[in-house]
Amino acid sequence: KFIPVILAGGKGERFWPLSRRSRPKQFLCLDGSGISLLQATANRLLPLVDGWDNLMVITSALVAENVRQQLPLLPEKNILVEPEGKDTAPAVAWASLEVQRLFGDGAIAGFFPADHWISSPEGFIKTILAGIEFAKSQGAIVTLGINPNYPSTGYGYIQQGEKEGEINALPVYKVTRFTEKPDQETASKFIATGDYSWNSGMFIFEVNFVLQELEKFAPQILKPLREKGEQGYFDLEKISIDYALMEKTASAYVLPADFPWDDLGDWNALERLLSKTDDDNVTNTSSVNYQTKNSIIYSSEDDEIIMTIGLEDVVIVRDRNATLVVNKNQTQDIKKALKLLQDHN
Ligand code: GDD
Ligand code: MG
Repeated sequence: KFIPVILAGGKGERFWPLSRRSRPKQFLCLDGSGISLLQATANRLLPLVDGWDNLMVITSALVAENVRQQLPLLPEKNILVEPEGKDTAPAVAWASLEVQRLFGDGAIAGFFPADHWISSPEGFIKTILAGIEFAKSQGAIVTLGINPNYPSTGYGYIQQGEKEGEINALPVYKVTRFTEKPDQETASKFIATGDYSWNSGMFIFEVNFVLQELEKFAPQILKPLREKGEQGYFDLEKISIDYALMEKTASAYVLPADFPWDDLGDWNALERLLSKTDDDNVTNTSSVNYQTKNSIIYSSEDDEIIMTIGLEDVVIVRDRNATLVVNKNQTQDIKKALKLLQDHN
């Protein structure tokens, strides 16, 4: 049995002010479709399972209410609420224990970030089905690899080894090495070799197997959760699954993703989601942009008038009581700047 688990407890501060502490990125609709990233993730996964009963979401107490509101058909028992977000390793460990308890040792779990953009539902399903087949056939942690196009320091890097075989006409490779978020120099070296892909952050495995691996490499996470259930969270360190397990396991495999993917890392992603004007501006609102070029002008109200004059390479975002104006090449610094703001709820 295949049980997808959506990881929906992240903070996603880089879309401030649209994303706030109580409404992080996964709950936003950025492309004007009216469907949030979380809802789109659930819609993509539903064709793979037999109804909402077989889909789970793990999130933190702070934002759980958003999940209930946005996915009203998801049964309450399928929402795992972490008392405190401790990053993805505890989330994967606890959800795997729950999937094992509810669906048995042989259940295959798939973990899916709630805040990615994927444009081909068919390609997605084809790749996931191949991943499930492979995870069934042997003890394997299957990751989906993305063809990298620049030396990003915000992703995990997967070094592709020997080809293990082919499933549904898709190749599967052994992972030689997994490196989470390398520095700039290392990332450039990786890209130059041509045998690395980015980690998409999606994982597929048999729960039994991953729990054995966690026992080996991260017993300090598994033990409190086994013994105390969700109360065990208070004893845990914050650590992502990439550091806790992926860098250590010898049983990782990679399937090249057969679909267009974007993790919408910051405001510049809007240029890839929305269409550009003749001056290379991107906007979703009634903006008047006089002698303004190559800028992003966004508002949570689509009838809000924003006027710009003589600007270039600027991002302007309006939401309720907050306005952001940032140079396009410094959108990554929003996180740092937010530290200066005590309470950005
Ligand atoms: N339940 C829960 N609890 N979910 C969480 C928590 C938590 O404490 N922390 C993060 N998440 C969710 C986020 O909402 C997101 O959907 C997913 O887990 C991944 O977390 P991010 O915080 O967005 O990770 P990242 O982007 O820095 O890095 C990961 O994703 C990259 C691809 O986008 C890594 O797996 C990288 O290796 C990968 O390249
Ligand atoms: Mg992310």
